[in-house]
Amino acid sequence: MMRLFSLHVLLFLAASTRTNAYVSDPHSAAKPDEAVVTHLNLDLVIDFSLQKIIGTATWEIKKSAHAKQIHFDANGLLIREITDQSGQKLYYELKPRNEYLGDDLSIDLPESVKRITIRYETGKNAYALQWVTPQQTSGKQLPFLYTQSQSIAARTWLPCKDSPGIRYTYDATVTVPKEMLVVMSAENPTQKNPSGTYKFRMRQSIPAYLMALAAGDLVFEAIGKRTGIYAEPSTIKSAVYEFADMEKMLLTAEKLFGPYRWGRYDVLVMPPSFPFGGMENPRITFATPTVIAGDRSLVSLIAHELAHSWSGNLVTNATWNDFWLNEGFTVYLERRIVAELYGQAFMEMEAYLGLNDLKETISELGPNHPDSQLKLRLDGRNPEDAMTDVAYEKGFNLLTRLRLQVGNKKFDRFLEKYFNHFAFQSIVTEQFILFMNDQLLNKYDIGYMRSEVDHWIYAPDLPKDYELFYAEPPFKKVDEAVIQLLTGDNLNRLNTKNWSTYEWVHFINRLDTTPLLIRIPEIDNVFKLTQSGNCEIQSAWYELAAKYQYKEAYGNMENFLLRVGRRKYLRPIYKQLAQTPSGKELAIRIFNEARDNYHPVSQRAIEEILKP
Ligand code: BES
Ligand code: ZN
Repeated sequence: MMRLFSLHVLLFLAASTRTNAYVSDPHSAAKPDEAVVTHLNLDLVIDFSLQKIIGTATWEIKKSAHAKQIHFDANGLLIREITDQSGQKLYYELKPRNEYLGDDLSIDLPESVKRITIRYETGKNAYALQWVTPQQTSGKQLPFLYTQSQSIAARTWLPCKDSPGIRYTYDATVTVPKEMLVVMSAENPTQKNPSGTYKFRMRQSIPAYLMALAAGDLVFEAIGKRTGIYAEPSTIKSAVYEFADMEKMLLTAEKLFGPYRWGRYDVLVMPPSFPFGGMENPRITFATPTVIAGDRSLVSLIAHELAHSWSGNLVTNATWNDFWLNEGFTVYLERRIVAELYGQAFMEMEAYLGLNDLKETISELGPNHPDSQLKLRLDGRNPEDAMTDVAYEKGFNLLTRLRLQVGNKKFDRFLEKYFNHFAFQSIVTEQFILFMNDQLLNKYDIGYMRSEVDHWIYAPDLPKDYELFYAEPPFKKVDEAVIQLLTGDNLNRLNTKNWSTYEWVHFINRLDTTPLLIRIPEIDNVFKLTQSGNCEIQSAWYELAAKYQYKEAYGNMENFLLRVGRRKYLRPIYKQLAQTPSGKELAIRIFNEARDNYHPVSQRAIEEILKP
């Protein structure tokens, strides 16, 4: 472990003495040491009837003296023509790499080339895209298109240097059917325009995985001065109610971690088939409608995506091996914001559930599994296959451990400094370590943390005996209720009146492997969990139902699986169903029907579970 650590640091030190040093990214064909891109001019026409995007991407490039070619990533794209700034055709080749990496698009570079224009079309099954039918939207009138570029899917809708280490600014012009509004990860319109052509500007430099676009029947409503919501007309009201705290969140985040650098912060409410909870597209988070619970109980997700405006979008992981720099830091920031706004106790419930999930993930991966390390080794693999809650929860716990050594104030100042120091840069884990050594461990005399930090980052298990940091057990009330039930008490005597969503989720988790399982029907009768409208509760309950074949829940479970496409909810339920032959048969039948309603990300995940 120590050997690995010093090797990494040495490599980095060697690299950092050169200017413009790029670490090599195993998931991109871009050779940034030869040539990079600095600005994109993108022109798109979106054809809903043919389900394709017809595009022209013009890249400003910067090349080193010896570069004879420039390399882009492309996956499934049909390349029509490539020219330089004076319209001269450039010779190119598409060299296939593999199924998930796509092609290395190598273009010959005569001396004089400054700008490259690529005319192209997207192919069938572009992994980033979901073409949502009118039936699958909430308004049922118009289709909807959206992109999900993270991690390596931007290359399926535009030719780009698809590596998180390479940043650029962009302008775009997008044409859609006249009744639609388009938004991008850029300065956005707030109203439909009768021409159907929209212009966008992104002045802060971003990596390709933060390129985003959505088009549909969208309206905008402001929340505060810098915050607002885009949604379909039929969901805008409930979304505005649910996310009323957005402006406050933004102010809280700035107070804790320094100025927000992106101008506006809006949220786009996606169709229910969106495969993630949220995606931190700059200036406009894409969010699942499943967080609209009606009681604002799941808005931590917004705090999370907002927090990425510092950790991830401002300071970015240079390769997907350093994914925890994005997600671990973001969970930490998210929970600091949540603690400020909703109290330490509420935040600790999330942290507790998160730690439980982490322990489960680590034990499922098995002893000494490299995916349980914070620093990942993804060469030769699809990054998606190793992105677990390790990055999120182990990262959070490491940063929390450090926070506890110096206190909130000093630690948050340290983070603010980190964000300023590396602003608009993409970095590797070892750059963080050097900065931390200097600005935290040495500065505050906590050098004794060095070996523990090493363990968190480079070892696959959790450090032994690291202290938990709860003032009191976060789910005391629920745990007491479970004991009450275990000693034979009547369900009606439980005091569940003020239980929060997380307390219900914990309650459901606690039933597993206890003698209370035989009381599932009775518990359901009293608490109506099968009928819950809260997706967190539904997913936990249907998972349990599938595991113990509680058939009374199957009707609602099926509706849930047909309607919702969020991978985090789908996977555990399908997994449980797949445990028995009859369950698997049912799962396959449901998936066959649901499939077209899932984004390729979720389709792939469920196929993996149900493969023979
Ligand atoms: N950036 C992620 C989503 C992501 C990760 C997309 C990896 C593709 C590859 C986003 O910020 C995220 O973490 N979303 C979470 C929600 C959050 C509250 C933990 C999700 O979607 O569940
Ligand atoms: Zn995240």
